[in-house]
Amino acid sequence: MNLDVLSATARELVEPGRGILAADESSPTIKKRFDSINVESTEESRRAYRDMLFSAEGVEQYVSGVILYEETLFQKAADGTPFSKMLADKGVIPGIKVDKGAKDLAGADGEKVTEGLDGLRERLIEYRNAGARFAKWRAVINIDEDLPSMYCLDTNAHALARYAALCQEQGIVPIVEPEVIMDGSHDLETCEDVTAAALATVFGQLDAQGVAFEGMLLKPNMVISGTTCPVQADVQTVAEATVRCLTRYVPAAVPGIVFLSGGQSDELATAHLDAMNKLGPHPWALSFSYGRALQAAALKAWGGQAGNVAAGQAAFMHRARCNSAAALGEYSD
Ligand code: 13P
Repeated sequence: MNLDVLSATARELVEPGRGILAADESSPTIKKRFDSINVESTEESRRAYRDMLFSAEGVEQYVSGVILYEETLFQKAADGTPFSKMLADKGVIPGIKVDKGAKDLAGADGEKVTEGLDGLRERLIEYRNAGARFAKWRAVINIDEDLPSMYCLDTNAHALARYAALCQEQGIVPIVEPEVIMDGSHDLETCEDVTAAALATVFGQLDAQGVAFEGMLLKPNMVISGTTCPVQADVQTVAEATVRCLTRYVPAAVPGIVFLSGGQSDELATAHLDAMNKLGPHPWALSFSYGRALQAAALKAWGGQAGNVAAGQAAFMHRARCNSAAALGEYSD
C-alpha cells in the first residue's frame, strides 16, 4: 500500500470549496429518476444525461471527483473521449461504486447487508486500469422500533472494512458509507444514537482490519429528524448534533467527511453543510458527496431533450456553486 498516494488523493477530493458528485445510480435507480421525467432509461439516454453533467463548463472549480456506475466508467462523451479521461483531463478524479447493492440480511426482518466482496480485488484492478482512483461502498441501516440490531451494524461494518482494505491494497481510496436512512418517525436524538453506534462499529472494524485512516474518506448521513417525525429539528440543531456525533466517533486522521444528501431537499442539504462548517474549524474537511441534492434540478431542466442541455447544466452548476460555498461555510454570508 502506498499511503502517500492514497492520502494525497483523499486530500485532493476534499480541497477547500470542492466536493464530490455522486452520479453512480445503479440501472434500476436511474430508471426511477428517469421515470419521474418520463424519459426512457436506455444505455444512450443514461450516457447523454451523464455527458451533460460531466461536460458542464467550469465544473472542476466545485467538483473534485465524480462517482461513476460501472457502465458509465466504460462509456464515452459525445466526441468519443472516455468519460474517465474527459474528467481526469479537467482535474476531476473519476471514482467508481463497487458494491452490488443492499440485500436482505438473513434472519433479520427489515434489515439489509451490502454484497459485492467476492471477486472485488479483480474488479478493482480492472477499474483502476480504466482510470478510477477512488471507490464507494454503501451500507444501509434502517431505523425502526427495534432496529437496527447489533447484528446488522456488525455485518455491515465488517463488509465495509473488507472493502476498504482491498481498495487500499490496490491504491484506490475507499469512501466508506454507512447510511442511516432518514425514513421513519424517529426523532433527531434517535438518529444521533444510531449514527453513533454505526460509526463506532465501522471505525472499530476499519482499525481491526488495518485500514489506514489517512487514506480514506467517510460518507455519512447527517443527524436529522426522521422524515415523518412531527418535530423537525432546525438547521442549527442538525449542524450541532452532526458535528458532535462526528467529533466523538471519527478519528482526526481521516482527511475528509463527505455527506450524502439522502433525500433532503437541495436547499436544506446545502444549508446544513454550511452551518456545520460555520461551527469549525474541525479536524477533518466537511464537504459533500451528493447525488439527488446536486442533480434533481438539473434532471428536471434537462427532461431528456438535447435542446435543454444548457438549461440542465446551468441548474447543475448552480447547486454545485452553492454547495462549494457551503463547504467553505460561506453560503449564507
Ligand atoms: P444522495 O445524495 O442522493 O443520498 O446520494 C448519494 C449517494 O451516493 C448514496 O449512496
